[in-house]
Amino acid sequence: MSTSVLFVCLGNICRSPLAEAAFREVARRDGLPVLVDSAGTGNWHAGQSPDHRAQAVALDNGIDISAYRARQIEKADFARFDHIIALDNTNLAELKTLRGGRSKARLSLMLDHVPVRKGHGVADPYYGDADGFRATWDDVWMASEALLASLKSGAI
Ligand code: 4NP
Repeated sequence: MSTSVLFVCLGNICRSPLAEAAFREVARRDGLPVLVDSAGTGNWHAGQSPDHRAQAVALDNGIDISAYRARQIEKADFARFDHIIALDNTNLAELKTLRGGRSKARLSLMLDHVPVRKGHGVADPYYGDADGFRATWDDVWMASEALLASLKSGAI
């Protein structure tokens, strides 16, 4: 049975598109069928392609995310996805407010899937430089591997 995962940050142009790309690749390599998407809690960048620095770090790692387009999370996502995974604590709090009473989706923080990083957010690289985006990639790749293991073991 396939599972569905939605990654959520603020703008959906930096962290969550990279999480989407990393997790999709980790699952593809493993052969696990998953539906993967990403969204932002904000709408400022809706319709835009990922930040060029995010596109660059993804491409450095062999993945072209130029066709991704930002969108804002919507109520229907809480019924559509099995897992909605926030990139930081602010966005997790926002998701808890938005979800209302009925929600199929289980909410979690991305780095909670990495025991030594529990409770931590993936730092926002938007106002930084390429080093920040490399750090984002390292975080979302490591967390994607841990998330895959948790999904396969039935831990979540
Ligand atoms: P993201 O990064 O939430 O990782 O996509 C940001 C993108 C845009 C802004 C902030 C963070 N912004 O303020 O426009």
